[in-house]
Amino acid sequence: MIYLDNQASTPIHPAVLKLTTQVMQDNFANPHSQHMLGQKAMHIIDNTRKSIADYFGVQFSEIIFTSGATESNNIAILGVILQALQTREKVEIITTPIEHSAVIAPIKAIVNQYPNRIIHKVAPIDESGIIKVEDIQNLLTPDTVLVSIIHANNEIGTIQPIRDIGRMLKKYNPDSVYPLFHSDGAQAVWSEEINFNYSNLDLYSISGHKMYAPKGIGALYIKKNTPINPIMYGGGQEYGIRAGTLNTPGIAGLGEAIRLLTLPEHKEMVSKVKNLRNTLLDKLLQIESITLNGDRQTRLPQNINISIQNQNSEKIVIAADLAGLAISAGSACHSGAMQESEVIKAISPNNQEKSKQSIRISLSQFTTEEEIEQTYDIIKNII
Ligand SMILES: Cc1ncc(COP(=O)(O)O)c(C=O)c1O
Repeated sequence: MIYLDNQASTPIHPAVLKLTTQVMQDNFANPHSQHMLGQKAMHIIDNTRKSIADYFGVQFSEIIFTSGATESNNIAILGVILQALQTREKVEIITTPIEHSAVIAPIKAIVNQYPNRIIHKVAPIDESGIIKVEDIQNLLTPDTVLVSIIHANNEIGTIQPIRDIGRMLKKYNPDSVYPLFHSDGAQAVWSEEINFNYSNLDLYSISGHKMYAPKGIGALYIKKNTPINPIMYGGGQEYGIRAGTLNTPGIAGLGEAIRLLTLPEHKEMVSKVKNLRNTLLDKLLQIESITLNGDRQTRLPQNINISIQNQNSEKIVIAADLAGLAISAGSACHSGAMQESEVIKAISPNNQEKSKQSIRISLSQFTTEEEIEQTYDIIKNII
């Protein structure tokens, strides 16, 4: 089977697997226990927290561990809004039309609870799939408490100008802590270097299984003094923001995956993936019925998203599966259900058919040239 659905989930890197299983076996004690074994587990967590904080240019206590980007997004969004509602009558939140459901769903839920007090504004987007800084700026008011922008899109792979948006937001109301700036970085961390301080971010969500670490582990950056409420309660772990016994093996694995990003060969790996992606994309675009969705340049190196005229996404994905190729239609993260893509709809307002004809092909650092050739043949045959 050729696996080109790496934006749904990557395989685990062998070095990550080795460390994760070793920690699972040797450091099973509760990291919050006082005895030596518990302290050893906590020592692993502390070291990992330190190296992750260093990698992103922030402080040790500004990184909390979660179960993944869904939880990180929920804490960021609900936590900030619930806190703001304590001191403000009206709160506004700004997002884009191409956010992941792990951002949209918590916003919808909280707006339903406080329909007269929360306004959700969505910035416009064009065919490129890239947000313009001024379009966010135009929506800001003194009531804006949170701006949440996906760093790299999970379907079309477009990368947003996070640093420019951060700089603009910082200047908007320098005397107030608001508007806070959150970004969902689940898809971005593997290929895009980011320093949370330079980007003026207040919150940033990370997911392990999009970057060769296990599923069920993630992190949230919360800048010091960010006004935020917990959304679940228990043993007060993670500075009182995320209760629950910490996942020592998952945390060690996430740390190892981030350490791999610092190796000199990492950049080469990213360019290798980009070259393979370009080879496949160039060939696919020679087929007349195929068009690319989203900007060609400002996109993740592993991402291809195309629409195929007069073809149905679901049928293509099933035919590809039967031919030994795993790809996806729209976003795979919506509990397995195939739906037409809201992201493609948003960037193709004049051709809504495209959202039913789109497929995503996402490479990994383990993808080979032969696999790329076979993928082209399979897709061409299906069409
Ligand atoms: C952009 C984005 N955000 C959030 C998530 C959810 O991440 P997790 O599976 O770690 O909860 C995904 C998963 O596909 C994603 O692509």
